[in-house]
Amino acid sequence: MSRSQTFFGEGGVAGFTHRAFTKAMGYDDQDMGRPTIGICNTVSDLNPCNLILRDLADAVKRGVWQAGGFPLEFPTISLGEIYLNPTSMLLRNLAAMDTEEMIRGQPLDGVVLLVNCDKTTPAALMGAASADLPCILVSGGPMLDGHWNGQRLGACTDCRRLTAEYRAGQLDEATYREIEDGIVRSHGHCMVMGTASTMNSLAEALGIALPGNGAIPAADSRRVRLAEAAGRRIVALAQEGVRPSQIMTQAAFENAITLLCAIGGSTNAVVHLAAIAGRLGLDLPLALFDRLSRRTP
Ligand code: FES
Repeated sequence: MSRSQTFFGEGGVAGFTHRAFTKAMGYDDQDMGRPTIGICNTVSDLNPCNLILRDLADAVKRGVWQAGGFPLEFPTISLGEIYLNPTSMLLRNLAAMDTEEMIRGQPLDGVVLLVNCDKTTPAALMGAASADLPCILVSGGPMLDGHWNGQRLGACTDCRRLTAEYRAGQLDEATYREIEDGIVRSHGHCMVMGTASTMNSLAEALGIALPGNGAIPAADSRRVRLAEAAGRRIVALAQEGVRPSQIMTQAAFENAITLLCAIGGSTNAVVHLAAIAGRLGLDLPLALFDRLSRRTP
């Protein structure tokens, strides 16, 4: 019997309250008879990169309903690179624990992980790997690139370059502030090949995200359709009982490392991939990165 049916179908006062409180949200017995899909959302007003996830959650829910599932959204810690001090990296493992325990502790048959900014992706994958329930990752996508005076600007590699020019007296205050108005032009994570672009691409190479996840911009309607398709797919994975440990295998990690080399991705990925693999009992020694990098153009 599935985890959700064990929960909703339980006898005595426990099952009675499980059903009664779910009915209080407007759902009925038919809804509770479907595979229950958790939508683990890292949306937060303190994480601008992840704001798009508010809309994508609705698209995922549509997909889950279409495929005969019962979607229930819940929040986990959101790590915003810009706001957190001194660095979001100190909180990655805490976020992974939050994700793992929220998946383990609730009557879910499958999970969609909604992530975007740098550390939210590895944290969610670490937690989901440990919980090992069927899951798909959907990221919010990269922001649109910025433009100023004929230049294409990347957040936030150019934030640093332009600040250096301002401090050297090569840009005046008014110009510097004018660039600030348009360098981060839309929702989404940094569009340069930093940690977020890298990890959301590697999730695709690991097989835990649908094709297209790494590259479709946040502002592009294909991102919404990808989220809806993920909603449909997770219902099938939950019914088939396909677990992250069956998808994120040693071969999948080697595929991800190869992609990391091919795209010239963030060196932070070495730390994050090793941490995710560790949750699955896999070892990714540096010698493996070295060997794969030598054969990858
Ligand atoms: Fe969120 Fe760069 S600040 S991805």
